[in-house]
Amino acid sequence: MNRIDFSHDTQAAAVIAASYDTPPMAYVHSYGCQQNVNDGEKIKGVLSDVGFGICDKLEEADLILFNTCAVREHAEDRVFGNVGALKQLKAANPRLIIGICGCMTQQQSVVDKLRKSYPFVDLVFGVNGIDTLPALLAEKLQKGRRLLQTPTERYDVVEEVPIRRDSTFRAWLPIMYGCDNFCSYCIVPYVRGRERSRKSADILAEFRQLVAAGYKEITLLGQNVNSYGKGLEEDIDFSGLLELLCAEEGDYHIRFMTSHPKDATPRLIDTMAAHPQICRHLHLPVQCGSDRVLAEMNRHYTVEQYLSLIDYAKQKIPGITFSSDIIVGFPGETEEEFEQTLDLIRKVEYMQLFTFIYSKRGGTRAATMPDPYTHKDKTARMARLLEVQDEIAARLARGMVGQTFRVLVEGHARQEGMLTGRLDNNLIVEFAADPACIGQYAEVLVEDARATVLKGRLAD
Ligand code: 5AD
Ligand code: SF4
Repeated sequence: MNRIDFSHDTQAAAVIAASYDTPPMAYVHSYGCQQNVNDGEKIKGVLSDVGFGICDKLEEADLILFNTCAVREHAEDRVFGNVGALKQLKAANPRLIIGICGCMTQQQSVVDKLRKSYPFVDLVFGVNGIDTLPALLAEKLQKGRRLLQTPTERYDVVEEVPIRRDSTFRAWLPIMYGCDNFCSYCIVPYVRGRERSRKSADILAEFRQLVAAGYKEITLLGQNVNSYGKGLEEDIDFSGLLELLCAEEGDYHIRFMTSHPKDATPRLIDTMAAHPQICRHLHLPVQCGSDRVLAEMNRHYTVEQYLSLIDYAKQKIPGITFSSDIIVGFPGETEEEFEQTLDLIRKVEYMQLFTFIYSKRGGTRAATMPDPYTHKDKTARMARLLEVQDEIAARLARGMVGQTFRVLVEGHARQEGMLTGRLDNNLIVEFAADPACIGQYAEVLVEDARATVLKGRLAD
């Protein structure tokens, strides 16, 4: 574990201040998962610390940073497209600094492509280079040349990075980094490195700061939160960490993601049941409903084991809802195997599904597997899956009509005078209320459900 010494940043701040007549502005965009969004908040924190303002318009920026995601090819294509579009901005403003960081730049092939085909990109650094950003910027400003770092194997836990959070009432709290599971389709273990957990004392300290600052929803993040604690000197697991955090007084609730089914235990469910601060919702990505495909995916559980945990949770936590990730069209997945996924979805009755067509990622084991089905076959299967899921979610939502829920009020709905609130199960309800309640809890009676769009009113 590392505590970074930010004292060198005073030199960087001086170089930055000397390079601009007015305080420079940075535009930072994060693609992909919450972990990446949280990294983006740290990038903004580090930049604010060395004198940058943060803006939300590309045209106003002196520095543009794209914090990228590599999990699917589509995400990478989008980034390359958006980077390409920056060429014109750079032509109009040659002093503009363009940087690319995050998971994509942990791949040498991407760094090579940026070097060769995107000459207007000035800075490249990987997922663990956030603390080096001030020095990189200072060097760029002083020497003017491009600084493209090759992917590093620097996978330590860095504490006390400045952070500028996007919300004043919902916060991301990473508890571990990296992944050791090597699911055969997934690039994450290659770009984010080995699993390492933060010390519980560091997590608790950040948690306390968040609660004291009035944060209501705190989401614990990790690629596999259930393996929290492995490799630490202290004797603690994820349930133990939840218990430690739930002992804190305050007005808050806790979410967590992602739970790998192979490591999710009845003890985790018991811990959720015992603590009302933990949302009665479990995101438990199953990926597919066929034991053969699960084995090929290297997931280490069977459909039966998965369903028995879901049943246990349904028994122990009345009203619990579930969400999941599904991959459609894994190499060699047959029609029958796909139908087993539909069966599983009908059995669990998920409130929400995050569905993905399999995307081939270079360097992963699945990339070498024969993949006889066409993209068209796979999109047709996806449409069938969504139809089944939409029907289930709409039915579950209709079942909520007439019930009152505590929601966290998040913001304005499109309709004038209406606000939005988030339920435990992640659905959004719209209701009329004073905007002063944004960021607070409210009790809302659900009166109507069209598909999964809920309408309600403040409960009496
Ligand atoms: N293709 C499609 N989906 C993928 N995921 C991860 N890798 C791939 C891939 N190569 C999905 C999984 C995972 C989620 C975060 O992204 O469903 O749970
Ligand atoms: Fe990827 Fe599997 Fe790790 Fe999740 S658990 S990040 S899907 S390798």
